[in-house]
Amino acid sequence: MKIFAETPRLILREMTLADAKGMLALNSDPDVMRYIGTPVVTTIEDNIKGIEFVRQQYDELGIGRLSVILKETNEFIGWSGLKRVTETLNGQSNYLDLGYRFIQKYWGKGYATEAARASLAYGFSTFDDAKIYAIIMPDNSSSRNVLEKSGLRYVNNFIGYDEDLAWYEISREEWITTEH
Ligand SMILES: CC(C)(COP(=O)(O)OP(=O)(O)OC[C@H]1O[C@@H](n2cnc3c(N)ncnc32)[C@H](O)[C@@H]1OP(=O)(O)O)[C@@H](O)C(=O)NCCC(=O)NCCS
Repeated sequence: MKIFAETPRLILREMTLADAKGMLALNSDPDVMRYIGTPVVTTIEDNIKGIEFVRQQYDELGIGRLSVILKETNEFIGWSGLKRVTETLNGQSNYLDLGYRFIQKYWGKGYATEAARASLAYGFSTFDDAKIYAIIMPDNSSSRNVLEKSGLRYVNNFIGYDEDLAWYEISREEWITTEH
């Protein structure tokens, strides 16, 4: 099982079908899905399909979201990491998007920011991309907080997937001067 990054408290590793129960706990919670723009995923079968989709991205695009494991207990606590976006959004295409989603009982412990910083480090040291981007719903203040603590800056609001969304980015130069 490939490990992509390690932090003091977390392991970011490839997502596998062994994570299906954890993904169900994550994606079936309406509070977790509040700012995602897609419905809760309440069956194990549909969560397995989601994992298979991520694994297909590993094969086709060389990157995809990663499972986050708490070192202390070896538990799956959510996912984080980079996705290669091939469609055009806010005028950009073929770019790296930072994202994350954690089971509610693991919020408020700094894990999302720890994983986001590790994902930026992995992205800038592995790929040639000049920037890494993130998209959030403007009211998602917890996610905005994670992005800003990780060094991303707000750029603009735009319409994507028929929603008003906020666009964030960080350049390689900015990342080098950020605490990470
Ligand atoms: C968005 C989301 C990942 C944010 O998670 P989070 O736990 O609030 O984020 P963080 O990792 O930054 O942790 C936050 C708090 O942990 C606290 N904390 C506790 N122990 C800590 C530690 N050892 N180190 C750092 N922070 C710690 C901090 O006080 C911090 O709050 P602050 O920045 O206001 O001081 C989470 O709300 C989530 O999964 N939401 C649902 C999915 C979602 O919306 N994803 C984003 C879509 S764009």
